[in-house]
Amino acid sequence: MNELRHLGIIMDGNGRWAKSRALSRSKGHEAGANKVQMLCEYCLNNAVPKLSLFAFSTENWQRPKAEVNFLLGLLGDFLKSQKQNFINERIKFKAIGDLEVFSNDIKDQIFSLQEATKEFDRLNFNLAINYGGKDEIIRAFKKIMQNFTQNNTQITELLSAITEKSIQENLDESSDIDLLIRTGGEHRVSNFMLWQASYAELMFTPTLFPDFSQSELEQIVMTYKKKHRRFGGL
Ligand code: IPE
Ligand code: IPE
Ligand code: MG
Repeated sequence: MNELRHLGIIMDGNGRWAKSRALSRSKGHEAGANKVQMLCEYCLNNAVPKLSLFAFSTENWQRPKAEVNFLLGLLGDFLKSQKQNFINERIKFKAIGDLEVFSNDIKDQIFSLQEATKEFDRLNFNLAINYGGKDEIIRAFKKIMQNFTQNNTQITELLSAITEKSIQENLDESSDIDLLIRTGGEHRVSNFMLWQASYAELMFTPTLFPDFSQSELEQIVMTYKKKHRRFGGL
């Protein structure tokens, strides 16, 4: 049986869930946000030590301004409303993605939640916001290069400093994903954790995220546990 150390979820289908009920897309996002607690509880109860959720991509800024603003508001509400819960449950929170673009208010909430939960280890909870797998790799390269320009180093040394290990260490999240689930029926990764998912088991379900249930999650994890993961070997 495979261990599940890092679960990734692309939480897709909120808009279609709302549309099918003749509701606004915002209602779908609210319903989706309300599912996050179930995912945390599942991980806590099943000893899954790391959960990474895709909440807002670097490409999602292309959506209508009203929807983007609603999602940013929902993010602020989530950070506020979950703080006590994360502390009670001893969950370590981390936001991944390029956080520079967010307002000072959102950034303050992110940093305060990260600070308040940094010693916890029951569950590592990563929320991917303004996150793109390509962007994360670009930022990792820039971090590596910055060290070198500061030290006026030769290009040959710089080249030798670019290794799988150094890139991995400079990503927002270093650990590989074991199981990547996408709800909402699309069979694509949409720029989520391109590096970390290189050997992830990919599972797609047509269930729209607000309908995603603990029992379906349990079934998917059971399928994952029985997979023969070869990693290029036999
Ligand atoms: C996922 O649901 C949430 C975000 C991308 C923010 P969508 O909003 O993409 O819902 P669909 O795919 O349009 O149904
Ligand atoms: C992926 O969903 C991003 C998140 C779930 C946050 P999208 O709805 O943005 O992806 P595409 O556009 O269908 O690929
Ligand atoms: Mg979508």
